[in-house]
Amino acid sequence: WIAILDYGSQVTQLIARRIREQKVYCEIIRFDTPAEELKTRAPKGIILSGGPCSVPDADSPKCDPAIFELGIPVLGICYGMQLTAHTLDGSVHPGQKREYGKAMMKITGDSPLFQGLEPDLQVWMSHGDKVEQMPAGFEVVAESDNCPFAAMQHPEKNIFGVQFHPEVVHTPQGKEMLWNFAFRICKCAGDWEMSKFIEANVAAIREKVGDDHVLLGLSGGVDSSVVAALLHKAIGDQLHCVYVDNGLMRYRETEEIEKLFGDAFGIDLHVARAGDLFLSKLEGVSDPEQKRKIIGTTFIDVFAEKARTLSDKVKYLGQGTLYPDVIESVSPIGGPSATIKSHHNVGGLPDDLQFDLIEPLRELFKDEVRAVGRELGLPSYVVDRQPFPGPGLAVRIIGDITPERIDVLQQADLRVREEIMKMDNHLDVWQYFAVLLPIQSVGVMGDDRTYENVVAVRAVESRDGMTADWYKLPYDVMDSISNRIINEVKGVNRVCYDISSKPPSTIEWE
Ligand code: XMP
Repeated sequence: WIAILDYGSQVTQLIARRIREQKVYCEIIRFDTPAEELKTRAPKGIILSGGPCSVPDADSPKCDPAIFELGIPVLGICYGMQLTAHTLDGSVHPGQKREYGKAMMKITGDSPLFQGLEPDLQVWMSHGDKVEQMPAGFEVVAESDNCPFAAMQHPEKNIFGVQFHPEVVHTPQGKEMLWNFAFRICKCAGDWEMSKFIEANVAAIREKVGDDHVLLGLSGGVDSSVVAALLHKAIGDQLHCVYVDNGLMRYRETEEIEKLFGDAFGIDLHVARAGDLFLSKLEGVSDPEQKRKIIGTTFIDVFAEKARTLSDKVKYLGQGTLYPDVIESVSPIGGPSATIKSHHNVGGLPDDLQFDLIEPLRELFKDEVRAVGRELGLPSYVVDRQPFPGPGLAVRIIGDITPERIDVLQQADLRVREEIMKMDNHLDVWQYFAVLLPIQSVGVMGDDRTYENVVAVRAVESRDGMTADWYKLPYDVMDSISNRIINEVKGVNRVCYDISSKPPSTIEWE
């Protein structure tokens, strides 16, 4: 495996992505991890990430100098290169001028890092400081106009530094460089696969849990579904899942979950059918934040009540924490670096229900979680599922929530999903759903005038949900969505398409 010491760069995660794509396991760890610890964990290589600080500053994050004496190859990227130079008695010049963007670089020396590459290549720079004097034993192997030491190496000690960022797409050959580092220099095997991850984790879960029992809140979303399948593979009947049906799920969703996890997987699944309770609490409430609050607290109450019926056996609470949630906490900036944040999907449980956490997906990125799910036999409709908000259809029924309005929305939403899923490239659409508006419009059906509901269709493309653009659905798909909703869903006589992007709109309407 390869250890990535994190100095707080925005793109540290990308280094991990690029390394794992080459089937080499890696972890992003604390910037000040002691050399002794690294020696014990024996990575085949160490990468020092970029970061926003200035190495010459007394309080900037530093590494344990002894990591350079372990005999393990080291690659310093940007801040990591400057840190290497600084630690080994070279010098770093605090920059007056920031170099940011694409630059042309020339390879001037013989380096295993650049083997197989053309001598002139484009790289991505983003730095203020730069190495002024290389430490003893180092040689320069690449230069650019602004940067005489664009890359340096100590060939005997296998220590390398690059001023540019090989992990971003704007360094088109960066992938090859990281490949060279992992395989030519660190001699990694490149055999890390999801089946191995599963095997290793199943063993680790069994050892940790022993004869105890685990409780998991199953929502049917990707993360909790994969945790359920993985825990079940590891501990079978010692896993108990609680699924809260708040009455605001998509059409037949609860039945699908029962069929898959209860019947097919044989998981001990406890379904709390609480639709009536949620609806009674939501009666007359139309304010979006109020809706969210009521649904959140009612969820905890219902979940806790079910959990109490199982609690004397249970010691652990399963959580679908993913790697990006964990990494934030090891970064030297933006918070106390010593605390590792635990991501509470089921936060706020009452005191009598305090469990230890078990988070078997902590090391994985989202697409790796999907791969694990596939490997464990979960169907595509689960592992490729679009995000669904916790408050469910409540935030897609604008205004009051009634059983009739839930039914209309479920029926309309089903047709939106069915039609879009017929598209070959439907997985490119980040999210798509129907929204029920609190207005009625005039229509004509046969000889009669109608006065019925309006449904808005929302489909967006996005990378992470933070920003989004409306999806350019083909007209024939829009046409069939509209025809099906108006002809098949009683109580709807008009369909609109939402053409707003985020920002300034949001993906959901509430
Ligand atoms: P917005 O509407 O803020 O949504 O652009 C961004 C993403 O978050 C989802 N979303 C929620 N998820 N509880 C959740 O678990 C919520 O209250 C909630 N509100 C929005 C939304 O579906 C989209 O993917």
